[in-house]
Amino acid sequence: MRQVGVIGVGEYLPKRVLTNADLEKMVDTSDEWITTRTGIKERRLAAPDEATSDLAIKAAQKALEDAKLKPEDLDLIIVATITPDMQFPSVASMLQNGLSASKAVAFDISAACAGFVYGITIAQQFISCGTYKNALVIGAEKLSGITDWQDRNTCVLFGDGAGACVLSEVKTGGILSTYLSCDGSKMDLLNMPAGGSRNPASHETVDRRLHYIKMQGNDLFKIAVRSMTEAAEIVAKKAGLGLEDLDLIIPHQANMRIIMAVAKKIGLPEEKIYLNIAKYGNMSSACTATALCEAVKEGRIKKGDKVLLDAFGAGLVCGACIIEW
Ligand code: ACO
Repeated sequence: MRQVGVIGVGEYLPKRVLTNADLEKMVDTSDEWITTRTGIKERRLAAPDEATSDLAIKAAQKALEDAKLKPEDLDLIIVATITPDMQFPSVASMLQNGLSASKAVAFDISAACAGFVYGITIAQQFISCGTYKNALVIGAEKLSGITDWQDRNTCVLFGDGAGACVLSEVKTGGILSTYLSCDGSKMDLLNMPAGGSRNPASHETVDRRLHYIKMQGNDLFKIAVRSMTEAAEIVAKKAGLGLEDLDLIIPHQANMRIIMAVAKKIGLPEEKIYLNIAKYGNMSSACTATALCEAVKEGRIKKGDKVLLDAFGAGLVCGACIIEW
């Protein structure tokens, strides 16, 4: 089996910034509530004519440049998203065309906030067994398009963005262990009810605001803390490491209080946790993807460091992996 690692990273955040002060003018909320309950200060919003694939392609181009690869070197493109441009074809197909990655097979995966880690895990399997050489994995979302801007329970949480990484065979380090889980019995806690085959789009579904994210945040909070803690413990054990051996944790950025509760449970100091939640909010699959990219660019990850990605989201899914840089 070949050892697989990250050889390039890239990100793209749309230009428009929506602050908590802006939200105060839209719904009955306050900067104080949002900051203390979530840790979010602002988030990015894609332009009306910018779709998920537009964000994804810019992140992908940067990751390819960072990896010093050409699009035609790619064998596999996986896009993790819950906000594709359209029901079909996949965003990955759009990228394959947009990048001119003519050799690559391409598909999307739907694993919500854990999608980037799910994508890395899938790509690792293909590369380690020798089926493919170079894979591009992207977490990209335009959550603003499925956010109900009249619902203060959810609209303060989400934002848009994209992060990408290129995976290939490496001589040293690389992915040490991965762990995925799913508990479909609790899928009703977080979903978008309409627009699929269960409730196709109709006047009624629009009138009932069913094309927006519905979330029972309080129930999810507790499950998120438990699941992300468990995932960190399992994936460290699988890698033969203690949690204290980790140099940096890149958690899903849904809520600062969730992240700090997980850090406390696994006994790691704040300086080992990478945070970008204040700037971007919850961008689902794009959270861990952009955070990994920013951590590399800011020099927070050095050669030999052991980095944990740990994410939780709708499904309910959880995904974690440890990468030695
Ligand atoms: N401004 C002011 N007040 C608000 C707001 C707001 N934006 N939103 C809710 N409130 C009010 C509520 O109405 C409630 O008022 P009440 O007590 O009078 O009924 C009060 O604040 C407390 O509401 P809670 O829902 O209990 O607030 P909580 O502290 O749980 O925070 C939050 C809510 C931020 C959503 C939190 O529960 C959370 O982060 N949950 C987890 C989300 C998550 O992890 N999702 C999975 C990943 S996302 C994905 O997969 C796409």
